[in-house]
Amino acid sequence: MRPKINIILPLFAILTLITLVTAEKLSVSNNGVFLEAEAAFIKQRQLLYYRNRYGGRGEFGRIPPSFKFENSRIRSAYIALQAWKKAIISDPWNLTSNWVGCYVCNYTGVFCAQALDNHSIRTVAGIDLNHGDIAGYLPEELGLLADIALFHVNTNRFCGTLPRSFNKLKLLFELDLSNNRFAGKFPYVVLGLPKLKFLDLRYNEFEGKIPKALFDKDLDAVFINNNRFSFELPDNIGNSPVSVLVLANNKFHGCLPLSFGNMSRTLNEVILTNNGLHSCLPEEIGLLKNVTVFDVSYNKLMGELPDTIAEMTSLQQLNVAHNMLSGTVPDSVCSLPNLRNFSFDYNFFTGESPVCLDLQGFDDKRNCLRDKPRQRSTLQCRMFLSRLVYCNTLKCQSSPQPPVYSLPPPVRPPPPPPPVPVSLPPPPTYCIHSPRPPPLFSPTPTPILPPPPPNLRLQPLPPPSPPPCEGQSPPLPTQNLPLPPPLSPTPPVYITPPVPAPV
Ligand SMILES: *[C@@H]1O[C@H](CO)[C@@H](O)[C@H](O)[C@H]1NC(C)=O
Ligand SMILES: *[C@@H]1O[C@H](CO)[C@@H](O)[C@H](O)[C@H]1NC(C)=O
Ligand SMILES: *[C@@H]1O[C@H](CO)[C@@H](O)[C@H](O)[C@H]1NC(C)=O
Ligand SMILES: *[C@@H]1O[C@H](CO)[C@@H](O)[C@H](O)[C@H]1NC(C)=O
Ligand SMILES: *[C@@H]1O[C@H](CO)[C@@H](O)[C@H](O)[C@H]1NC(C)=O
Ligand SMILES: *[C@@H]1O[C@H](CO)[C@@H](O)[C@H](O)[C@H]1NC(C)=O
Repeated sequence: MRPKINIILPLFAILTLITLVTAEKLSVSNNGVFLEAEAAFIKQRQLLYYRNRYGGRGEFGRIPPSFKFENSRIRSAYIALQAWKKAIISDPWNLTSNWVGCYVCNYTGVFCAQALDNHSIRTVAGIDLNHGDIAGYLPEELGLLADIALFHVNTNRFCGTLPRSFNKLKLLFELDLSNNRFAGKFPYVVLGLPKLKFLDLRYNEFEGKIPKALFDKDLDAVFINNNRFSFELPDNIGNSPVSVLVLANNKFHGCLPLSFGNMSRTLNEVILTNNGLHSCLPEEIGLLKNVTVFDVSYNKLMGELPDTIAEMTSLQQLNVAHNMLSGTVPDSVCSLPNLRNFSFDYNFFTGESPVCLDLQGFDDKRNCLRDKPRQRSTLQCRMFLSRLVYCNTLKCQSSPQPPVYSLPPPVRPPPPPPPVPVSLPPPPTYCIHSPRPPPLFSPTPTPILPPPPPNLRLQPLPPPSPPPCEGQSPPLPTQNLPLPPPLSPTPPVYITPPVPAPV
């Protein structure tokens, strides 16, 4: 009897699970073979269910036969948008309430333009539902929007993850999912988008590793701050041609890779604040001559400021606060021609150049600077500084293994609170009912995180009565349609955190 129970119980458990998932009543036989067959049937059924004609889950019903679309792409877009509308469970500003009828180009947040490959037809070229406060998920059918260049849904309550069908969006240029409730692994599907330049995943609940391939991709801007990503910055990070790299408020660890210097041609702003980076600052950062913002605050960086920082001649904002740095802050850094703000508070510096005092924004508190106010205690300083820091033992040179530290455990004073809670509440199982963690990054009076890029303010429209679709001759491509900007400029970084929808 025993062996049989051992086999049947797990099977039964699996089946029960499947049953629950499919919400399907199942007559469970006590015959093992039958169970197997039934399981196979369910599996098959699920495959069918997930692979309907549009690659979706079949949320969408039939197109009314009276509908005539101006071309087949608009028809596909209709299917995609209706499926999306069905996947929306809350739309407080009624943004999608005019998503009815076959005039897809008139839907709020939907922008049409001439197809790139056929100038005699128009097609849906962009979606912009920024600040919509919409709750729901992104259905597989969105892959039918094959011509979109922009997909902007920042500051909504979308959950789940990116549908796999996004790999069909071969023209997608800007993807902004920021400030939503997306969760799970990094959306690998973005790596296969050939035209993607702007990737904004910030303020979501993505977790786990970042694929190395992200840094080999020809992107312009990467914002993945304020998620739960956790990994070591890979050596190939220097391959990335981005001008803006914001990784703040995650759980990265390991070294600041030497390859950083290889980003010198393109890198303009880099914000790594509030992660677990533990290394010395590599001399190679001196190669970053076009970087205007360099923020590595709230990490565990050690050693001295490399002299090469003096070569970062474009630098305007330098923030190394809340680390374990020591040594002297030299003239050459504080006299950088464009430097305006320089924070190095909460470290263990023992000297600073008087030039620093002339900077517009400047913070040196809680260091080991004699004769300066608000410094650490003599005891604290003596204890910390009695240990030598050997940067080489931090083995940051392209070693695939995590560095092995041979330093004694640092005795720090109770660390200041990090800018955001590091131990976040557990991820919600169901996105809709989860409390929203405050999206705001408001650590210190210091600067920081960029907001989602400027958005179109969407006016809620009254639900229209859809005009009849019959006998409509296809409208000619119009030139004066509201087009989304084809290339929205790189959003300004380093201003304010995203604010909740001001709608
Ligand atoms: C949205 O539509 C509903 C029902 O028509 C209405 O009660 C509500 O006031 C509308 N909300 C806004 C913001 O227009
Ligand atoms: C679509 O919008 C355009 C411009 O706003 C308007 O002229 C046209 O009548 C609308 N078409 C329909 C069918 O609603
Ligand atoms: C452009 O679209 C029209 C209408 O669908 C079609 O008749 C024509 O063949 C297309 N042209 C090209 C070059 O694909
Ligand atoms: C930087 O790039 C050069 C050539 O492009 C390469 O040889 C070198 O290994 C790279 N350095 C790092 C640290 O990745
Ligand atoms: C980098 O800076 C140099 C000198 O400061 C400037 O000539 C060059 O145009 C900049 N390059 C970019 C890509 O901004
Ligand atoms: C730079 O310093 C000035 C003067 O203290 C301050 O007003 C400003 O907010 C600072 N800017 C940033 C980005 O920290």
